[in-house]
Amino acid sequence: MKAARYYGQRDIRIENIPEPDLRPGTVAIDVAWCGICGTDLHEYAEGPIFVPPAGHPHPISGESAPITLGHEFSGTIVDLGDGVTDLEIGQSVVVEPYIVADDVDTGPGQRYQLSKNVNFIGLGGCGGGLSEKIVVKRRWVHPVGDMPLDQAALIEPLSVSRHAVVRSGARPGQTAIVGGAGPIGLLTLSVLKAYGLKVFISELSAARKAKATAAGADGVFDPREGSVAEMVRDQTQGRGADVAFECSSVPAVLDMLVDAVRPGGVLVNVSIWGHKPAVDMPRLVLKEIDLRGTLAYANDHPDTIALVRQGKVNLKQFITSRIALDKLVQDGIEELIHNNEHQVKIIVNPRA
Ligand SMILES: NC(=O)c1ccc[n+]([C@@H]2O[C@H](COP(=O)([O-])OP(=O)(O)OC[C@H]3O[C@@H](n4cnc5c(N)ncnc54)[C@H](O)[C@@H]3O)[C@@H](O)[C@H]2O)c1
Ligand SMILES: [Zn+2]
Repeated sequence: MKAARYYGQRDIRIENIPEPDLRPGTVAIDVAWCGICGTDLHEYAEGPIFVPPAGHPHPISGESAPITLGHEFSGTIVDLGDGVTDLEIGQSVVVEPYIVADDVDTGPGQRYQLSKNVNFIGLGGCGGGLSEKIVVKRRWVHPVGDMPLDQAALIEPLSVSRHAVVRSGARPGQTAIVGGAGPIGLLTLSVLKAYGLKVFISELSAARKAKATAAGADGVFDPREGSVAEMVRDQTQGRGADVAFECSSVPAVLDMLVDAVRPGGVLVNVSIWGHKPAVDMPRLVLKEIDLRGTLAYANDHPDTIALVRQGKVNLKQFITSRIALDKLVQDGIEELIHNNEHQVKIIVNPRA
């Protein structure tokens, strides 16, 4: 089968590799669509980061580069391993792409995303969505009902945003400010709207500002037009936002959010930083701001899928391009690196 294999920095090859074997307790899936994520871009341009380099096998997967890429994918069940009795061949599914040790409790309320040596299918080994077929443990398979499979490829990043919103403790009727309208910022905006908040977002790019407006933002603020924190206070009777989300990895945006969130508010940092940013600690103390991290998701997928199936989040609007696997580097990765303001999510059909 065809697969996109990561060998190292700027070295991704489309190759023919053997199909994975079905094992007891696993599910075989024909991949329909796989999204390209900012993490994939980082692996390509600056990696390996999550990918275990050749000669350094991951302690759980036992694999190292080359590995198959792709962790944001949907597909159709084509076979069920022994012991898998609660799914059916032909079902549409997504995969929660975790590699965690077998003895980690992944039950309700468990924070398995924080477990030792955690990694992701499509980065740390175990196959990937940028291939025609994948076999994964039953635990990580989530049926999506009649959700179109192209949209379902966005369930993974939407789960990141859903988890960030849960981490914030946001309640209906509150006000949020999101910093950055890239894929993660736009999906966070969508979840916040679905949960009944008033949402402001800040962004520089015209194309992404338009996406934010279309996705229901109550205000889209450009930092070149004045203080975004002042704009938020103007819209909240001087109070500031109840919850804030850093989704840009830009220090000036983090500063703005510390300013824009109300005293006693919550600031969730979603960004993964390549360097340590300065945080305005004096202001954080004087305002008693809760600064929280958020990592991926844990038992968020069922509720995330429900948000889309109930029509509360429209994922279709964020698919800006569809490409075949052979075009992954040129029309997918390089396009996102050089022309990202006109793209939100590029999805890849590995079977095209
Ligand atoms: N915590 C997690 O589990 C998790 C998961 C996935 C992604 N992430 C991280 O989330 C972050 C966002 O991801 P993304 O794919 O949306 O990134 P992105 O780079 O596509 O989006 C960032 C956006 O911020 C905007 N921006 C830049 N400077 C700005 C400014 N001064 N004011 C307002 N907006 C500004 C950019 O124009 C861009 O649209 C990244 O750091 C990514 O690594 C975290
Ligand atoms: Zn991702």
